[in-house]
Amino acid sequence: MLKCRHESKAQATMSNSGEAELIHMFKGIPFTTRSSPELLKSLDAFDAREDDVLLVSYPKSGTHWLAGVITKLYDTQVTITSPIEFGDISKLEELNNLSSKRIIPTHLDYNMLPPNFKNKKCKMIYISRNPKDTAVSMYHYYRDNPNLPTIDTWTAFFDLFLKGNVVCGSWFDHFLSWEEHEDDKNILFLFYEDMKKDLPTVVKKITLFLSLNVSEKDIQEICQKSSFSEMKNDTEKENSDPSHTVCALTSNRNLIFRKGAVGDWKNHFTPKQNRRFEEIFNEKMKLSKMAQGFIYEF
Ligand code: A3P
Repeated sequence: MLKCRHESKAQATMSNSGEAELIHMFKGIPFTTRSSPELLKSLDAFDAREDDVLLVSYPKSGTHWLAGVITKLYDTQVTITSPIEFGDISKLEELNNLSSKRIIPTHLDYNMLPPNFKNKKCKMIYISRNPKDTAVSMYHYYRDNPNLPTIDTWTAFFDLFLKGNVVCGSWFDHFLSWEEHEDDKNILFLFYEDMKKDLPTVVKKITLFLSLNVSEKDIQEICQKSSFSEMKNDTEKENSDPSHTVCALTSNRNLIFRKGAVGDWKNHFTPKQNRRFEEIFNEKMKLSKMAQGFIYEF
C-alpha cells in the first residue's frame, strides 16, 4: 500500500520537473505552488460578506471532520468552498460569483487573513489539535501527498516541524497568532481532542455560536454520521466528492482519513524527541493560556 503511494508520488514529482517547484515562500511562510503567488498577493483585496463563516486550522488539525459536521447543521443552502488560498488568481472571482452562503476554509495565520473578514466581524471557527499528533499526522501526509516535498524519515520531519520549515510555517506561530484573538466574540476556538471525547457537546457549542436551531435528535444523528469510519467509508464509496478537500495542500480526499486517533505521537516520538519537543513548546508557549490545556492522550 505504502509502496504504491510512493510510486505515484515519485511519478507526480517527476512530472512536476523537480521538487523545488512544489514550494514557494510568501511573507516568510512556505506555501505549495497550488496556492499561486498572484492569488496570495490579491487576498488583501478580498471582499468578505457579513454572513461568511471561516473555518480556520493549521493543516492536519481535523479540518475535514469539522467541515463535515458544520455542513450537516444547515437546512438552508450553504457552499463549503475550497480554501481561500488554494488555486490561482481566478479564485476570488469564483468566490464572488457564489450566490449561496459561503463557508470558507483556510490555513492562513491571523496576520495573513484578508482584512475585510476582520472588519466585518465574520464568524470564524479555529480548530486546533495537540501539536505532537498534528506533527505525526503531517509527517504521514507529506509521505503520501505528491504536492509536498519528499521526506525520508520521521526524524528529518520532526526537525523541520520544530523549525517551522513545513507548509503553512510554524505550528507555534500559527496558534499564537490566533490565540491573541481569544476574546474576539466572532471567533470560536475548538479542540480536536474535545471532539473525540464528546462530539455532541462540541456540536451544541457550534450551533449556539452559529445561531442554528438543531434538535437534540438531529445532533446525535449528525455525530454518528461524522464518525471517523463513516467519513472514511463515505470517501471510499465516493459519497463525498474525492476530488474536493478543504485542505490547501491537496484536492485528493483519499489522503485525509488515516487513523483519526489521539496519542499516535507515542508510536513515533523517541523519549529524547519528546523532551526536546516539550522544551521548545514550553519556551515558545510560555505566555499562552490555551496551550496549557492540550490533551495528548486519553
Ligand atoms: P490522522 O492523520 O492522525 O489520522 P485535516 O482534516 O485538518 O487535514 O486533518 C486530518 C486528520 O483528521 C487526520 O488525522 C484524520 O484521520 C483526522 N480525521 C478526519 N476525520 C476524522 C473524524 N471523523 N474523526 C476523527 N479524526 C478524523
